[in-house]
Amino acid sequence: MASPCWRRRALAAACLGSVLLLLGAALRALRPAFESNAVGTSWLGGKRRSPLQTLYNLDQGPRSALAEVHRQRRELLHRACSRHTRRQRLLRPEDLRHVLVDDARGLLYCYVPKVACTNWKRVLLALNGRGSGDPPSRARRQDAPGRLPSLADFSPAEVNRRLRTYLAFLFVREPFERLASAYRNKLQRPWGAAFQRRFGTDIVRRLRPHPSPDALARGHDVRFAEFLAYLLDPRTRRDGPLNEHWERAHALCHPCRLRYDVVGKFETLAEDAAFVLGLAGAPGLHFPEPPPGARAAARDRAERLFRDISPFYQRRLFGLYKMDFLLFNYSVPSYLRLR
Ligand SMILES: *[C@@H]1O[C@H](CO)[C@@H](O)[C@H](O)[C@H]1NC(C)=O
Repeated sequence: MASPCWRRRALAAACLGSVLLLLGAALRALRPAFESNAVGTSWLGGKRRSPLQTLYNLDQGPRSALAEVHRQRRELLHRACSRHTRRQRLLRPEDLRHVLVDDARGLLYCYVPKVACTNWKRVLLALNGRGSGDPPSRARRQDAPGRLPSLADFSPAEVNRRLRTYLAFLFVREPFERLASAYRNKLQRPWGAAFQRRFGTDIVRRLRPHPSPDALARGHDVRFAEFLAYLLDPRTRRDGPLNEHWERAHALCHPCRLRYDVVGKFETLAEDAAFVLGLAGAPGLHFPEPPPGARAAARDRAERLFRDISPFYQRRLFGLYKMDFLLFNYSVPSYLRLR
């Protein structure tokens, strides 16, 4: 007799359509870090080792210190996922929107805004200059030049093959530092005018009892506390997912559903980028680095912004971003007053 769990799953699949069933089944099959058929795949007619196979070989031999760091991060993510995630819904194709595809190299990159993602897109486009062995797909033909296709653009079979055989990576950042950076770039700085009109005006209208006509029209003077109140306002998430600049990294990249082979960190951007580029067979490529002192300045700015927030809001905000702290091994910032 069918178990209740199986029935639920079958019902969900019937409701959501066969596309999702296929996708869901493929993702469940991904659990082991390296499938033997994945690493055995001959790559571009055997001329080059795939990045995934290169990583597999690295993990078989005596590991470099860097390879060991990445193995431990993967394990920590895996453990944190099994400890902290409950039963999850099936992924829908649009959940894969942030996973960009580099068919030439065999890479999947989940981009998280405010974590050097523009630089990664540029580097991947540069790498992607070469042709791949694949026939052009629907996705690639439709794609504007200068943009990488997203996994969401492919059919389930094409998605599954790439998930099985490509090296998947993402880059994350200390969640509150990322949030402070998003606030600064999108709501505070003068060149965030489009974001200010789109989100700032909304925030002003919703949260200020007596807004000035100027602020209502331009949304240009949203304070950090107001931004946080907007994030925590139940209405915000009822209206749809958070904007990608402040959405949690786990909600953009689904690291407990998709297998990520490399978890890069903004805090160690240069080393981690070099590690990925080495696996991708482009060790000579230099990843653009932030200017010296920029990281420390960003950290200080985040600390200054959060210090002025009441412990009540700090606690609730930590609750909102907690999964990113747990999954990616970030410790609670020392300036937070959680008790
Ligand atoms: C997690 O973070 C702690 C404290 O920063 C660090 O000592 C440890 O090595 C990290 N673990 C992994 C797997 O990155």
